[in-house]
Amino acid sequence: MKAAESIRLSSFELKVGDIANVELEKLHGLSISVGWPHRAEDWQMLLEIGEGIAAQDEIGRVVATAMWFPLGANFATVGMVITSPRLQAHGAGRWIMNNVLARVGSRSLGLNATRAARRLYLSLGFAPARLVYQCQGDAVMPASALLPAGATLRNIEHSDLARLVALDRSAYGTDRSALMARLLDVSKGVALLREGRIQAFALCRPFGRGHVVGPVVAATDDDAIAVTGPHVAEHVGQFLRLDTRQETGPFPEFVARSGLPVYDTVTSMWLGRPWAVASEQDTGMLPVTYALASQAFG
Ligand SMILES: CC(C)(COP(=O)(O)OP(=O)(O)OC[C@H]1O[C@@H](n2cnc3c(N)ncnc32)[C@H](O)[C@@H]1OP(=O)(O)O)[C@@H](O)C(=O)NCCC(=O)NCCS
Repeated sequence: MKAAESIRLSSFELKVGDIANVELEKLHGLSISVGWPHRAEDWQMLLEIGEGIAAQDEIGRVVATAMWFPLGANFATVGMVITSPRLQAHGAGRWIMNNVLARVGSRSLGLNATRAARRLYLSLGFAPARLVYQCQGDAVMPASALLPAGATLRNIEHSDLARLVALDRSAYGTDRSALMARLLDVSKGVALLREGRIQAFALCRPFGRGHVVGPVVAATDDDAIAVTGPHVAEHVGQFLRLDTRQETGPFPEFVARSGLPVYDTVTSMWLGRPWAVASEQDTGMLPVTYALASQAFG
């Protein structure tokens, strides 16, 4: 019998539902299929913090996801927008994003767009802002930097949460108390103090292929380096990642010297109220977010 060498299969029907009702392994499988490093634990944390939708086909395969992370009453970041490789460029990305927009209400949105997603978001009305440099690699011992004048370092404790939230709010422009509390649960933190008051901090937690440093909040590059250095030193020889919008200056130079070259870039984009448009230094706003909590949270 001779079999036809090609066949056209009719496209299948997808239904969108709450991501909370989908098995974790299926979400994890989808992010692996597009080469993303998330572990099941990383998905678990995203699901605890945010809301989202997942599209499934007739036999329950998860073929697309999108999440949003409400921060304050009027803003959310969007992340984990993924469509299965065999579906891409057939309209599923646009369809799932339209479902997100219908669900987030009047919130302004911020997201970090990969190259593959940029055109989709532009056509949905998102405006491009600054680039994020995804820096990663096996950490090497940074040359020991002198501690900035009058500063001391110590490990962060749970009782520091209110101060960290306040510094993060000044830098980020939105209150992220719930997110910061959750991050503190799973992170080690280093704080820089002057006269007994925390003026800069860096958190570091397990993520993806190793650990991620972020957020890092500080008023100067030297302070940011001082709080990031101990995390680099602790992970020498191990995979470490840090996402920053700092393009030039002592901080990104320090990150590169620590064995974390720029691996990729994503573009911050916003819809509604401008987000991540100008650098905090340019606007005279201090402190500054030197490293993102993650691409999904901004
Ligand atoms: C980005 C992604 C979600 C887009 O999903 P999709 O199902 O391909 O989206 P659509 O089919 O609705 O296409 C939307 C637009 O993007 C364009 N597009 C799709 N894939 C593209 C690619 N690899 N490069 C450039 N443009 C692309 C399409 O042509 C379309 O534009 P048009 O309507 O003007 O022709 C999908 O490619 C993906 O999961 N990529 C890997 C993970 C990722 O990068 N996620 C984005 C996180 S911000």
